[in-house]
Amino acid sequence: MLDRLEFDEKTRKAFDEQIIELRKMIEDYLKVTDNIRNMPASKKEDHEAEKRVSEMEIPQKSRDATVIAKELVDDVFNNSMLIQHPRFFSFVASSVSPYSIAGAILSDIYNINAGSYSIAPGAAIIEEKMIKWMGGLAGYDPDKCGGIFVSGGSIATMSAFIAARENKLAHKDILKGTAYFSDQTHSSTIKGLRMLGFGEDQIRKIPTDEDYKIRIDLLIEAIESDLKKGMKPFLLIVNLGTTNTGTIDPLDKLADVKEKYNLWMHVDGAYGGSSLISPIYRNLSKGIERSDSLAWDTHKWMMQTYSCSSLIAKDRNTLLNAFTEHPEYLTDVISSEHADGWDMGPEMSRPTRSIKLWYTVQALGTDLLEEIIEYSFHNAKIVQEMLNERANWEIVSKPSCGTINFRYHPEGYSDEELDELTGKISEAINDSGYAFIVTTTLRNKRVLRMCMINSNTTEEDVRSTVVMLDDIAKKLTGK
Ligand SMILES: Cc1ncc(COP(=O)(O)O)c(C=O)c1O
Repeated sequence: MLDRLEFDEKTRKAFDEQIIELRKMIEDYLKVTDNIRNMPASKKEDHEAEKRVSEMEIPQKSRDATVIAKELVDDVFNNSMLIQHPRFFSFVASSVSPYSIAGAILSDIYNINAGSYSIAPGAAIIEEKMIKWMGGLAGYDPDKCGGIFVSGGSIATMSAFIAARENKLAHKDILKGTAYFSDQTHSSTIKGLRMLGFGEDQIRKIPTDEDYKIRIDLLIEAIESDLKKGMKPFLLIVNLGTTNTGTIDPLDKLADVKEKYNLWMHVDGAYGGSSLISPIYRNLSKGIERSDSLAWDTHKWMMQTYSCSSLIAKDRNTLLNAFTEHPEYLTDVISSEHADGWDMGPEMSRPTRSIKLWYTVQALGTDLLEEIIEYSFHNAKIVQEMLNERANWEIVSKPSCGTINFRYHPEGYSDEELDELTGKISEAINDSGYAFIVTTTLRNKRVLRMCMINSNTTEEDVRSTVVMLDDIAKKLTGK
């Protein structure tokens, strides 16, 4: 007889023991996160753990589940960057709300399929409520907008491009369709266009101005030139929070361009979408209400575990036009009154990603979320003020959406020496374990980039980090 995964007495006992063990592991994890501020923000690579994982094999015989879990905790989970550390200022990394964790655990154990309304009506209603709330913050009409939660900004953006293509381009023109975006736009845009079959000759990367915003004059020039060549401009991607600098493109002016040339305007708000929650900062995105679609990652600034992103279209019918497919085996579960999730995006079976966000928003309330977002803007301004008060620091990009870029620039250093110095400052602070700050490159300058969207990052974390950077720079240069 096969020892199958049915809950016979033996399996049930093993499962119960595992649950007790898992509970302990979750408690240990929570103890770690309670103490996270006192832990190093940068992890030393553990090559022994890597080796142990590399040597793990696919077993022929069953193994003890508790041992497997321990191996995973020790060698896999704990040998990863501590991106939720309050002084981990790299990438677009955030803390995770305990409510998101609770929602994620519940969603995983119930494992409902959020494909359609009739399979999981409660989940579909919650997803729709979250989409309408977020769409409403973008100025879309909640009664008309629609969308779904997807795995990440990359998939949200690529799905929006499919909607753009299906709603704006005749099939015969697909090879002539051209897309426009700034040289600061996230790499997922180019990847998404490539995955959809658009060639390099259909992609226009438009230079940015001194504030890293798309140059509208050059955008119009490129569109006009394409029209003269018989191309079919159809898609404009605009930034609500670039990865490098947190920059928000001039959405209102870009909406004028969109309307003049009948383009689909997609807003990449994977990072900055959450700024729409703040009544103070929402107006930085004025014009967003005239866009056609928005990608918004709540696993960035809204404390969600991966994967929790959203694709929101101003008019849900544009998504339904692009994605609806009704095979005979779904006839009994297709809703006649509701827009089903699987008709608004590429996935059929999917987890209910919106529930953990719902849990978080319900538990915290929007007032607190507003404060969290505004505090990130505040902290980036603190960095700017402190650097301005200290000698030799050059602000390379102004604070925006909680991000700022800068470098130490003493007199007499060549461009190459400055780049090298920036790298050394980053290495030194990372080696100290106090904070984690990596570099990026802006207009050929290597810079230190601090992104402060972690809800646990305090002003004191930020201030002490700047003081430390200043000390390191002075020690390295003697200036
Ligand atoms: C501006 C922007 N767009 C898109 C993405 C891609 O999002 P994801 O990693 O969720 O696919 C990112 C990721 O950092 C981003 O910062």
